Amino acid sequence: MKITLSVIKADIGGFVGHSSVHPEVLNRVKEVALEAKDNGLIKDVSVIVCGDDIALVMTHTKGLDSSEVHEVAWNAFKEGTEVAKKLKMYGAGQDLLTDAFSGNVKGMGPGVAEMEFEERKSEPVIVFFADKTSPSAWNLPLYEMFADPMNTAGLVIDPSMHDGFIFEVLDVYSGMSIKLSTPEELYDLMVFIGATSRYCVRSVFRKKDGEIGASASTQKLSLTAGRYVGKDDPVLIVRCQSGFPAVGEALEPFARPWFVEGWMRGSHTGPLMPVSFAQAKPTRFDGPPRVIAAGYQICNGNLIGPVDLFDDPAFDQARTDASHMANYLRRQGIFEPHRLPPEEMEYTTLPKVLEKLKDRFQLVDTGKPKFTTEGEVAE
Ligand code: 13P
Ligand code: 13P
Ligand code: MG
Ligand code: MG
Ligand code: MG
Repeated sequence: MKITLSVIKADIGGFVGHSSVHPEVLNRVKEVALEAKDNGLIKDVSVIVCGDDIALVMTHTKGLDSSEVHEVAWNAFKEGTEVAKKLKMYGAGQDLLTDAFSGNVKGMGPGVAEMEFEERKSEPVIVFFADKTSPSAWNLPLYEMFADPMNTAGLVIDPSMHDGFIFEVLDVYSGMSIKLSTPEELYDLMVFIGATSRYCVRSVFRKKDGEIGASASTQKLSLTAGRYVGKDDPVLIVRCQSGFPAVGEALEPFARPWFVEGWMRGSHTGPLMPVSFAQAKPTRFDGPPRVIAAGYQICNGNLIGPVDLFDDPAFDQARTDASHMANYLRRQGIFEPHRLPPEEMEYTTLPKVLEKLKDRFQLVDTGKPKFTTEGEVAE
């Protein structure tokens, strides 16, 4: 029997500011999710939290994009929002962009990662969940997990992985995606996924048989809402072992922190810090960006877990490294590259300041200006 694993997440109000989720809000979300399980709408559910975001990890047999399953998450977030509003949590209902559910949460604000598969003899999966960053934060670790033999020994020594993997890459601006096969098209793949402001890895498949190995939430709220309303703190599902990366190979990229977009006001670069569930409460300059790893064994469609996989002293050094990286960047305050370039900022005063001062710009060259003050090519 095929099982679908659907992870749907949203920020429905922060406690305090954008730091964490109030227990009463979380309890309400859990209640609604468990009611849906009791009513047979879903097979099982586990509710996890990273920063001010809540994710419903659900199993069912209704396939991808099931409106019934999406509605379970929507209702849970709606009900949770009522509690968040009552307690005047910060940004209550922030990620619910419409009032009424219309069949699919995609484009309505929540982020979604889903995959459907035949449950194996043993089915270990990891749900990665990050706060204060965006879906392209998964590009680098997905490359390392599924295409870098220096990270994943299995690519070299496990015959069932040795053929490589196929990456599906989404251009978040055009909405088009392309599939690229590794290792032979690795350099073409890197051209795209290194450009994290535009391209996101959406899914990864095993080349030998097309089995799905990873699926990421690739909604970008800025484009969903037609304007820049927020980085979409992302989720990622990775299947492990027996033809996929071992659990430790999937976790290993996070032991070497790298820089991602997000952090304060969704407008900065910062290190992604792997943390335990208890430490997933970003406060320093509203960060630095955090990631948790929730491990499950799926057993007859039930979620056995989660295990808090970054709750391991072996990741202490990564946390220390990320703190050092944060110190270096904070030194630069409002200056790029700590602050993102204008087109990547969640909001900016630049157009208003430009408008106010536009008559005070003077040509310093004797030639014709090549660009307008807005940066466009002059006539
Ligand atoms: P164990 O011997 O602890 O089962 O570990 C096997 C393994 O392959 C670890 O990556
Ligand atoms: P969130 O996307 O986690 O709500 O953070 C927004 C923000 O502005 C943090 O400073
Ligand atoms: Mg928030
Ligand atoms: Mg958040
Ligand atoms: Mg957010």
